[in-house]
Amino acid sequence: MNGFTAFDVTVVDDGVPVATAWAVPLAWDGKIASLPGGYTASLARAVEGREQGTVPNTLVICGAIVAPERAGRGLAGEALTALRDLATEQELPQVIAPVRPTVKHRYPLTTIDEYATWTRPDGTSFDPWIRTHQRLGATILTPAPTSQVMTGTVQEWEDWTGMSLPTTGTYVIPDGLSTLAIDHTADLGTYIEPNVWMRHR
Ligand SMILES: CC(C)(COP(=O)(O)OP(=O)(O)OC[C@H]1O[C@@H](n2cnc3c(N)ncnc32)[C@H](O)[C@@H]1OP(=O)(O)O)[C@@H](O)C(=O)NCCC(=O)NCCS
Repeated sequence: MNGFTAFDVTVVDDGVPVATAWAVPLAWDGKIASLPGGYTASLARAVEGREQGTVPNTLVICGAIVAPERAGRGLAGEALTALRDLATEQELPQVIAPVRPTVKHRYPLTTIDEYATWTRPDGTSFDPWIRTHQRLGATILTPAPTSQVMTGTVQEWEDWTGMSLPTTGTYVIPDGLSTLAIDHTADLGTYIEPNVWMRHR
């Protein structure tokens, strides 16, 4: 994706693609303060770095998808492991990910700072996708409250959400990890998606 196809991996079972994951390389000094803001900023830093000839030292895992009928069998872990192996091959010593928590949409009113602290009795994360990363040895670095910012007109948001948005205000939207802010005066809807930064090594 985005011209970084060397960092796309696909898990194939008997000739059938069953999982995929993708990543981008960038330069990061290892400090939390200089992490990209999240998903969008990672893509931007990767593209700018390539244009400017910056030598990358970090692989940012951007996402993964498993065929729905194969979910829950560890396939995403295989795809993430393949990306980590690729990082080693490509001499990228750091692997990080702005993880999109997969059950956060059930708690859109909870801040990502709070959500990221939720754990199960065994100490692992409340969120299944964060857990998958933890099973591979990753740890939470810090929340990424503005990982992606999505804007549109009120009409566009009505079309995208299938909801009426009649007045200026804050709305809970289907599958939203956070809420949607609607401003009728500016004819603008703004949705800011939070993620959680994790570090693999
Ligand atoms: C998130 C996703 C990549 C996980 O892949 P996977 O191969 O199922 O991952 P795992 O086998 O490690 O399972 C992860 C956890 O999710 C749970 N899980 C799997 N399928 C699930 C489902 N449909 N609903 C809820 N939980 C599910 C598993 O039980 C496991 O939890 P555990 O820690 O209690 O064992 C996959 O479900 C998916 O493609 N989802 C849609 C795309 C997405 O949200 N990607 C992540 C953000 S980029």
